[in-house]
Amino acid sequence: MPRGLFITLEGLDGSGKTTQLQRLAAWMQKRGMDPVITRQPGGTATGDRIRALLLDAGSTPIAPMAELALMFADRAQAIQEVIEPALAAGKTVVCDRFTDSTEAYQGGGRQLGSEVVTQMHTLICGELKPDLTLLLLPSLEASLARARRRNDRTTQETGTNESRFEQEKKDFYKRVWQKYREIAEREPERVILIEGNLTIDEAHEQIIEAVSERMMALRAKS
Ligand code: TYD
Repeated sequence: MPRGLFITLEGLDGSGKTTQLQRLAAWMQKRGMDPVITRQPGGTATGDRIRALLLDAGSTPIAPMAELALMFADRAQAIQEVIEPALAAGKTVVCDRFTDSTEAYQGGGRQLGSEVVTQMHTLICGELKPDLTLLLLPSLEASLARARRRNDRTTQETGTNESRFEQEKKDFYKRVWQKYREIAEREPERVILIEGNLTIDEAHEQIIEAVSERMMALRAKS
């Protein structure tokens, strides 16, 4: 059985990633594909506990290296429990964030650098790499405004505060944004950059085009 396709979605908080993931999943389902949809951090029972620890604004401070290790602990669990079994069974996996997020947020944002992230990736994830990464990168200003609005809404609706990341300063997000761009420039084959302030439909079209192309290329190879 040929391995399934591993697709990841990346972008800043507020880049419209979640909406695009839902649209992509619906598009796939309509075409008879049965994708496995997951997210990081989270996506497994253990991962959800790690996620709560990481994203709860009330939690005690987490050292950048501890944060990095927790991201990879979550990833290790997801790979064993969800991602590898699905890919081995020939299923397409669509994952909301993967190692590029760690490189952008911990490597760029927290200034740990790319090298340590790459090394951890090799240790924890081995050869596993996305076949295709869709990187949504609206302008920094638009991303920040959306993240802020969403965070205000979540706090009002649920009384919970997942804002540890959203509270970070603008320079933090700027570093994340720049690191994402750097990744896209470094790996143009894998990373499809969806730039600019596009409408939901426009971004969806670009995503569908990239996914269709990659699927056809893989089919031609096998
Ligand atoms: P989430 O609410 O899932 O944000 P979004 O809907 O924008 O994906 O929160 C995930 C947060 O975790 C987000 O701010 C990015 C951060 N993160 C890292 O810092 N490093 C990582 O490796 C991953 C996977 C996420």
